Amino acid sequence: MENKITIIGGGNLGSSIAEGLIANGFIKPHQITVTKRNVQSIQHLADKGALITSDNVAAIKEAHYIILAVKPFQIKDILTEIIPALDFKQHAIISVATGVWIKDMEAILGSNFSLLRAMPNTAIAIGQSMTCICANAQAVNQVEFVSSLFNQLGKSIVIDEKLMDAAAVLGACGTAYALRYIRANIQGGIEIGFSAAQASLIAAQTVKGAADLLLTKNTHPEQEIDKVTTPMGCTIAGLNEMEHQGFSSSLIRGLTASYKKIKSDM
Ligand SMILES: NC(=O)c1ccc[n+]([C@@H]2O[C@H](COP(=O)([O-])OP(=O)(O)OC[C@H]3O[C@@H](n4cnc5c(N)ncnc54)[C@H](OP(=O)(O)O)[C@@H]3O)[C@@H](O)[C@H]2O)c1
Repeated sequence: MENKITIIGGGNLGSSIAEGLIANGFIKPHQITVTKRNVQSIQHLADKGALITSDNVAAIKEAHYIILAVKPFQIKDILTEIIPALDFKQHAIISVATGVWIKDMEAILGSNFSLLRAMPNTAIAIGQSMTCICANAQAVNQVEFVSSLFNQLGKSIVIDEKLMDAAAVLGACGTAYALRYIRANIQGGIEIGFSAAQASLIAAQTVKGAADLLLTKNTHPEQEIDKVTTPMGCTIAGLNEMEHQGFSSSLIRGLTASYKKIKSDM
């Protein structure tokens, strides 16, 4: 049987998921339906063969997996709207909304449904997301499919739900932290002689290469750093100066500040 997927909320994330799944052939276009109140902006998905509609209830009739990609404050209204058409034997529901817990969805739907949460990041638009997934006990048979779905759009891991806020910080806010680090490198690169375009290319590709070293070789960062730091050399002089200025400490403090903020907003 062909799995059918309905994405409710064809915004940045929802349409990136649809585009990625169609582009890499994980799903045939006719197996995917995307909803949005104003469907004009997702006409490109219809042009690729996906179904688009503003009727959420009709959109889930044949679906097996329903991805909720609306803003967190809209989840309750959407679930209430689609309840009459939901069947726990047919539908598994995956929310990508930050801060909406499985218990919040169960409070509306009851405890029979297979419910999952996924926390991707914006690199999902180019198939390079890191996506953290958690699920309730009823979703035990759906976790594998949902993991393989997000593996088409980058990498995924299954975690305990209690780590989902931490996943939002490290995995989703992490994109912004990395970009700010790259921006600082560009600024420094210009000061030592490169044009903005040259510095941008060198900084971004160097960071990409460094990350790929860890992912490919499964090494610890310090092992790779040891290969660059010649005794009395320029790399260790720069690194140590960065640490004297609080480099690692400021990153850790920024990360924990984001975490405290996410917790206090709940
Ligand atoms: N962006 C990220 O990096 C990221 C990462 C992890 C998680 N998230 C989560 O992903 C969710 C979506 O984020 P986003 O950046 O994609 O937001 P977005 O671009 O605003 O997309 C939300 C979409 O939902 C549609 N929508 C609103 N009400 C609807 C309804 N009743 N029925 C159908 N569609 C409806 C909106 O289109 P219309 O107004 O035309 O209906 C809009 O395009 C959020 O909950 C966010 O917390 C985002």
